[in-house]
Amino acid sequence: AGEYKTDSERSFVMPDGMSRQLVGKIVQRFEERGFKLVAIKSLVPSQDLAKEHYEDLSARPFYAGLVKYITSGTPVVAMVWEGKDVIRQGRRIVGATNPQESDPGSIRGQYAVSVGRNLIHASDSFDAATKEIGLWFTESELPEYTLNLERTNA
Ligand code: PPS
Repeated sequence: AGEYKTDSERSFVMPDGMSRQLVGKIVQRFEERGFKLVAIKSLVPSQDLAKEHYEDLSARPFYAGLVKYITSGTPVVAMVWEGKDVIRQGRRIVGATNPQESDPGSIRGQYAVSVGRNLIHASDSFDAATKEIGLWFTESELPEYTLNLERTNA
């Protein structure tokens, strides 16, 4: 674990999996890949939080629908994962945005069908991850700790 300390990074990952009951499977994939779970909580996001989270997409035709969907009353699960290259690797674990194009081994490729219900969000850049983690979590919810496992990317 220690040897990766300098290039360790964090990603914000958010399944809307409460509706699909896939939270455990999603967590398991990141854990089994060796990433470290820094924080996890379920919540129904407020309008303001949802709008800010998807701010970059505010000009897109599906923006209102995205905001409406994640604020509709079913909790989402906000998670922060840490480890070497976790932003890029997290996107690979999650799979392509359009489930029709997602690798069958990815979360979307296995469980999702349509782009508007693609199950899970994962930060797509370092800047996005920094913004999103700061938006969804407070400092005290983000502990620093070391995983003392051999098979880890953390
Ligand atoms: S895009 O099209 O390049 O902006 O796609 P991407 O950056 O991967 O997607 C950003 C988020 O927008 C969602 N999205 C859509 N939702 C509904 N309908 C359509 N057509 C659509 N296209 C993209 C996509 O699922 C991403 O949501 P999150 O929650 O970030 O995964």
